[in-house]
Amino acid sequence: MQLDLKETLKLAEIWAKEVGEIHLSYFRGNNLDIHTKSNVYDVVTRADKESEAFLLSQIGECFPDHAILGEETGEHAGVAGYRWVIDPLDGTNNFSQGLPIFTVSIGLQYEGMTVLGVVYAPCQKEMYSAVRGEGAYMNGKKIHVSVKEDLSHSVLATGFPYDKGVNPDNNIANIVAILPYLRGIRRMGTAAYDLCCTAAGWLDGYWELNLNLWDMCAGALIVEEAGGKVIHFRTDRGISIIAGNSTLVERIREKIR
Ligand code: IPD
Ligand code: CA
Ligand code: CA
Repeated sequence: MQLDLKETLKLAEIWAKEVGEIHLSYFRGNNLDIHTKSNVYDVVTRADKESEAFLLSQIGECFPDHAILGEETGEHAGVAGYRWVIDPLDGTNNFSQGLPIFTVSIGLQYEGMTVLGVVYAPCQKEMYSAVRGEGAYMNGKKIHVSVKEDLSHSVLATGFPYDKGVNPDNNIANIVAILPYLRGIRRMGTAAYDLCCTAAGWLDGYWELNLNLWDMCAGALIVEEAGGKVIHFRTDRGISIIAGNSTLVERIREKIR
């Protein structure tokens, strides 16, 4: 059955707000139950797990035949061609430190193509959303990527992979190569929010290497629907992307690898 994506978006936004309430109920509290995952820098909290469990139960109830890929529980098979791609808490390092920049990211793919994306930042109360072909919005207002075309006027965001301590291919060389040309650089700690800020023009662009699909599925659609471009600039290091307007994406690409 083909979904009514606008109706589905409303549902996803409701779920995202409820997940935001879960985040806030733990934020800066003493009940986080912090554990490490792939290595000592990669942490997970009770809020990540509870948020994922909530989304799995909502999606399972509304769309029992849809597949789901969730960061904390992996792949859940489905039969309808639809797959939800969820990061229940993007920015767990910030969250666990008490830094108020983190999000929940919910993407929906049909036959492998992202058709809907929602990213909610509970501390900012910012809901970013897009349906393919219908534009991108923040709290109901249409958003558009920055029009800046040169690096010297641009503020970009990036991030560093969790294997940065053992793999010299850790984005430091890129920072060294590009920083002198930029007005500024930020490391906000949530890829989904980096992409949404790029979509809204608060950031002029963003790049990162070695992401997972759940980090960028929703945010990439939001950038594209905001008139921007998202390119995969290499294929040997997880999902490695550059986002921004198409001219700036090329300028960034010339400086990094
Ligand atoms: C991380 C954040 C961070 C990015 C990492 C991601 P998590 O996601 O998006 O900004 O630099 O690559 O893994 O672990 O907080 O969900
Ligand atoms: Ca993430
Ligand atoms: Ca996460």
